[in-house]
Amino acid sequence: MVQAVPTGNNNEAIMAIQRVGVMGAGTMGNGIAHVLARSGFSVVLCDVEERFLDRGLQTIAKNLDREVAKSKITAEDKASTLKRITAVVDRTKLVDCDLVVEAATEKFAIKAEIFRDLDRITRPDVILASNTSSISITKIGALTERADKVIGMHFFNPVPVMKLVEVIRGLATSQATFDTVREMAVKLEKTPVEVNDAPGFVSNRVLMPLLNEAMYAVMENVATAEAVDEVFKLGMAHPMGPLTLADFIGLDVCLDIMRVLQDGLGDPKYRPCPLLIKMVDAGWLGRKTGRGFYTYQ
Ligand code: CAA
Repeated sequence: MVQAVPTGNNNEAIMAIQRVGVMGAGTMGNGIAHVLARSGFSVVLCDVEERFLDRGLQTIAKNLDREVAKSKITAEDKASTLKRITAVVDRTKLVDCDLVVEAATEKFAIKAEIFRDLDRITRPDVILASNTSSISITKIGALTERADKVIGMHFFNPVPVMKLVEVIRGLATSQATFDTVREMAVKLEKTPVEVNDAPGFVSNRVLMPLLNEAMYAVMENVATAEAVDEVFKLGMAHPMGPLTLADFIGLDVCLDIMRVLQDGLGDPKYRPCPLLIKMVDAGWLGRKTGRGFYTYQ
């Protein structure tokens, strides 16, 4: 079902893509805008409020600075990358985009509203990709008049660093759409991996139950969060232990994904850990709120 994808040849479609819209300037959206602009695409970054755009642009500038400091890019590359990004609140400004990647909040109702709008605003030939980490691409595609051009393009945080793009085919996604998005990922210096539409795809079908189980281990006093993380860092060479990673992803996002797995697969093994639910209820969402399994400055 899942295979590493060799690069194909779909030059015409990929050459036609010059201007790319990104919906959402949060962690994933600004990372996606960063890699698109760094690869030479003109980017229209859209969010609902100026302050989210400002924060996204600041993050991009900061992350480009890291790359300058490591001599991966020059200061001129940084300046030209930032110049290629136009920040907009008005969605209709996506009208002349040749591809749009949606990276908004992981809630179906929000994505549904965005995809209905994008379907009206953009040319009918434009591919609409979603960076959803678990919501059905088939279901999102069915909201539009172009289900054949709706696809999952799932990036990983931090986007400028992580090599993977899970490319998810909805039931109606065409081969041409798949080929274009796969090549687009290669152009962004990522490695596309083909996955069929199923709850959580592959990444979160496997990752989230691991994080959820680590939370049960803490809740049941099997070990502290620090000890659980040490086991995975030192015993399995994970760069971050599961609880540090859960804080990094956001505990609200982890809970949403566990619920998608539970609803979509129906197996009790996907039951979200009660401690996770309690922490989300408390507003302890991990790094972004300063408190999760750890506290952050
Ligand atoms: N932008 C650009 N570069 C960045 C960056 C960013 N946001 N964050 C880190 N980097 C770079 C650093 O500059 C550094 O570069 P060099 O290798 O050239 O030195 C490199 O990445 C490593 O960073 P650090 O040395 O600062 O720190 P580290 O070695 O601890 O690595 C990490 C940080 C890359 C985040 C690492 O801890 C890691 O890989 N963690 C796991 C991340 C992970 O699992 N992500 C997936 C989450 S799941 C998801 O995103 C999808 C979902 O659906 C939930």
